[in-house]
Amino acid sequence: MTDKGGPLIYLDNAATSFPKPPEVVEAIRAALLAPASPGRSGHAASLAAARAIHQARKNVARLFGVEDNSRLVFTANITWALNLALEGLGLKAGDHILSSSLEHNSVARPLARLAAERGVIWERVPLDGEGLSDPAEFRKLRRSTTKLVVLNQASNVTGALAPAREIKEAVGEVPLLLDTAQTAGAMDLSDLGQWADLVAFTGHKGLLGPTGTGGLWLKPGLRTRPLATGGTGSASESLIQPDFLPDALEPGTANTHGLAGLAAGAGFILETGADQIRQHELGLATAFLDGLSQIPGLTVWGPQNPARRVATISVSLAGWSCSDLSSALEQEAAILTRAGLHCAPLVHQTLGTLAAGGLTRFSFGFFNTLEEIKTALTTLDKLARRKD
Ligand code: ALA
Repeated sequence: MTDKGGPLIYLDNAATSFPKPPEVVEAIRAALLAPASPGRSGHAASLAAARAIHQARKNVARLFGVEDNSRLVFTANITWALNLALEGLGLKAGDHILSSSLEHNSVARPLARLAAERGVIWERVPLDGEGLSDPAEFRKLRRSTTKLVVLNQASNVTGALAPAREIKEAVGEVPLLLDTAQTAGAMDLSDLGQWADLVAFTGHKGLLGPTGTGGLWLKPGLRTRPLATGGTGSASESLIQPDFLPDALEPGTANTHGLAGLAAGAGFILETGADQIRQHELGLATAFLDGLSQIPGLTVWGPQNPARRVATISVSLAGWSCSDLSSALEQEAAILTRAGLHCAPLVHQTLGTLAAGGLTRFSFGFFNTLEEIKTALTTLDKLARRKD
């Protein structure tokens, strides 16, 4: 509901999902009411808090199809998870890293820093004619010095899905770090454990948990240096950080409240089925794309084929700046979108939308309805005609 009591149409799920399922809210509430720090004390409440975290680990590991859930470590968000991988893998001068052209700043800034400070060579793979990442290009650009491939599985701007498994096959034994910020919880990822090397995830988008949650899974055999060391509640007699996972990479008291919520969010997805969530979101995206094609002066920036995208659709409208359009959508019909560069200037540079200040982005979630999509379309149509 808006302040005025009318219905709110939340189409900003790529930023954070809303609403959260009631079981997520309840799990966080219950954790907040518990007198416990997880795994630090022997009393029942502390053990229960540790169990809630373990449940979060188990549920997310199940969604990714990974067997050894101790290799799934929690971080404050996906940016920390990506940094944990990029900073900790020991990349050095002359090492070559390939990434897509659709990376978010959470990858682009750490890579730019590694290039500036350590002399790592970072190369971006161009998109094909349809604005998609092509495995053949990755194969072509791979060098003998390529030490890592970093891939945004779905762009937070265009919604374009990368053929991640095919890209992994194309680069062979070079480790692939997969950024699932826009895909975890939004599609079936239960085969990741079979082929991915490092998987970074966020808890507060498709996984339906709260902000302040995320993490990294590392395939057996891969290690990364902790960004920080400290108390783990284990091997406390030693001044050296334990080297076993997850403790090695989880110093300090965990975000128990957040992770209790994440356990419930991931549990909701396991129960509902990631495929069902994808079908629902793709249905909304297809209806939206169909309707957009009838609106005068409107351009969609991203794949038209729903099978090649997630339900995140960025547009521009002739005569409107992206921020004016976003504000007008809110004023007219309480439709919440995100305008601007979406923390992804490289994507806008690739699209050629940087100088214009970016695009207006609509991103759908499992709780959006077709009715809401229709309202967004009629409102856009009205605004398009107003500036004619
Ligand atoms: N990266 C998030 C977004 O795309 C916050 O909005």
